[in-house]
Amino acid sequence: MPYAHITGWGMSVPEPVLTNDDLAKLVDTTDEWIRNRTGIRERRIARENEFPSTLGVKASIKALQVANLRPTDLDLIICTSSSPEYIFPATACLIQDQLGATKAGAFDLLAACTGFIFAMNMAAQSIRSGSIKNALVVGTEVLSRFMNWKDRSTCILFGDGAGAFVLQASGQPGGVLSAVMHSDGSGADTLSLPAGGARLPASEATVHDGKHFVHMDGKEVFRFATRVMGHAAREALECANLTTDDIQWIIPHQANYRIIETAARYLKMPMDKFVINVDRYGNTSTASIPIATVEAAQKGQLKPGDKVVFVGFGAGLTWGALTAEWTGPLPVKHVVHPEKYRRAARIRSFLRRVGRIIEGILSPREL
Ligand code: ACO
Repeated sequence: MPYAHITGWGMSVPEPVLTNDDLAKLVDTTDEWIRNRTGIRERRIARENEFPSTLGVKASIKALQVANLRPTDLDLIICTSSSPEYIFPATACLIQDQLGATKAGAFDLLAACTGFIFAMNMAAQSIRSGSIKNALVVGTEVLSRFMNWKDRSTCILFGDGAGAFVLQASGQPGGVLSAVMHSDGSGADTLSLPAGGARLPASEATVHDGKHFVHMDGKEVFRFATRVMGHAAREALECANLTTDDIQWIIPHQANYRIIETAARYLKMPMDKFVINVDRYGNTSTASIPIATVEAAQKGQLKPGDKVVFVGFGAGLTWGALTAEWTGPLPVKHVVHPEKYRRAARIRSFLRRVGRIIEGILSPREL
């Protein structure tokens, strides 16, 4: 049975920075309150021409560069987002088209901030079953478009950005070792985007009542998160026959420094084993785990052979954890340049659209 290795990683965050002091000009808050309660100092906010797919594509190309893989080598793309480009089509398909990943099946997976862990597990299981060889997992967010910038209890928390992993099959033991996934829909109303779906379609009233913004019972989410984070990490470790002593790094969902501290206490692990960057990006939902991983890899913190736990929680409610042995890129014979496929992908996409129009004109109408 092949193993599923994490062989590539990439991130992309928008340039514009929104500091706590900037937020204090919008709502009744202070830099001190936000730092003390969340650990966040600043977050990135997408420009008007940046979308989940464009950030996701940038992160994906970097991940493909690290893995030395062409977009055309991909068999599967799973995108996970709490702020997808549309309800449908899937953001994964937009990324597939922009990358020129012509052979990949692409779909979105919705599990809010736990999405990246669920998606990684699905990609790893597809590889482990032998049905595919190369998968791309993307977490991408432009949550700033769903924030009520007058609601101080939510707008201080979230930020925009994207992260991506390439997972590849190899006979070498290692890669993803175990995963646990949990859900409890009885907590669905704790954290939600109430309108825009079939239950509450867009109307004047939904817009007037602010139902297209993120709604959250912060205290309840906090209680839930502190209850499940450490527990899920321990469960995933047990599934892989590991203990916390075997672990070099824990890479948690970056929602709140205090939630991570509680998980550390539960696991009896020092905080310096936790990769934390919530101070600079806030909560980027599905993108927070890959962004934290990319920064740890770039700093040289993650080394081949290291055992890592990824752990997260989010709306749904959902929570889960995944353990992996960090391997890095597989050996390569030729260097490929995935970024060079962008131009060809644009031309291909344009030609297919034109082709569809011509086909529509030429094909006889049914009576
Ligand atoms: N600035 C100043 N004061 C504030 C702010 C703010 N931004 N927000 C709330 N307050 C006030 C409240 O009004 C309240 O005032 P009161 O005591 O006079 O009523 C006081 O501060 C305390 O408010 P709490 O809500 O009790 O503050 P708490 O310590 O719980 O912190 C927070 C709030 C940071 C939101 C915390 O509950 C939290 O982090 N919850 C988890 C959120 C989370 O992780 N969400 C993401 C989930 S992942 C996903 O799926 C998207």
